Amino acid sequence: MPLLYEKRERIAYITLNRPEALNAFSAEQHEQLNAAWHDFRDDDSVWVAIVTGAGDRAFSAGADVKEMGQRPADARRRSFWETWFGNSLQTGLEVWKPSIAAINGYCLGEGLTLALSCDFRIASERASFGFPEVNLGIATIVGAARAPKVVGLGNALELLLIGERIDAQRAYDMGLLMRVVPHERLMAEAEALAQRLCRNGPLAVRATKEVAVRSQQLPFGDAVRMGESLRRIVNQSEDAREGPAAFREKRTPEFKGR
Ligand code: COA
Repeated sequence: MPLLYEKRERIAYITLNRPEALNAFSAEQHEQLNAAWHDFRDDDSVWVAIVTGAGDRAFSAGADVKEMGQRPADARRRSFWETWFGNSLQTGLEVWKPSIAAINGYCLGEGLTLALSCDFRIASERASFGFPEVNLGIATIVGAARAPKVVGLGNALELLLIGERIDAQRAYDMGLLMRVVPHERLMAEAEALAQRLCRNGPLAVRATKEVAVRSQQLPFGDAVRMGESLRRIVNQSEDAREGPAAFREKRTPEFKGR
């Protein structure tokens, strides 16, 4: 299986599983990854996702270079005309539950684009990052649209146009990473963050993320107006009553996501 997908308690684990190819994205792996994100989005029993790479060398070394040129570049598109973006997390699938990239090694090309599509990035001190596409004469598109929003245009252009790898410390310094941790601590740190997120009211988390993300493309007044509408919806939930009640009763809230 080029992708492993498991759920334990409130956490979904997505593992890119082609360690012999440094978890490079095959077409089959792409399809399984997209299916996993759709399932995570739709399953109310899981609240946070962690995506990582199998083995201890790579998160993902990017698109499968050996598959390139073997079939038309747009073979994955089922229709000539209909928009094909939005079916993957990278290209804009809307998932308002939080996601964490646990980056355990090489994080290159589309692997870096996937990490940029997650809300949090925690990396092993052994990880390295880059967009090597230009070295192959290939343009980076989705990563080029995402990277400047995370690391600023100057840092993004350094990665995108030079195409050399940077280490985890440099990635942290440019704002790409939330945390750099010892290699053997990576999954424990990612899980601790996931569990911390699961202690918060899940509907409040999702509404807040949606406003933060959508407001990037909206005038301020429209963003606040939309957000206030979402607040009314969240305030109708059991969780919005449970949080203040637990505070008054000096106990830990038990959120249910409804
Ligand atoms: N696509 C397909 N296979 C890949 C791959 C990719 N993107 N990246 C690595 N692999 C394969 C290698 O071909 C090799 O398999 P092989 O032994 O059967 O030939 C295996 O993974 C291990 O990689 P290797 O190159 O031997 O490891 P390394 O430590 O010497 O180098 C990298 C690691 C990541 C620097 C190097 O593999 C690399 O540059 N990969 C391509 C990265 C890239 O250009 N990605 C963007 C594509 S748009």
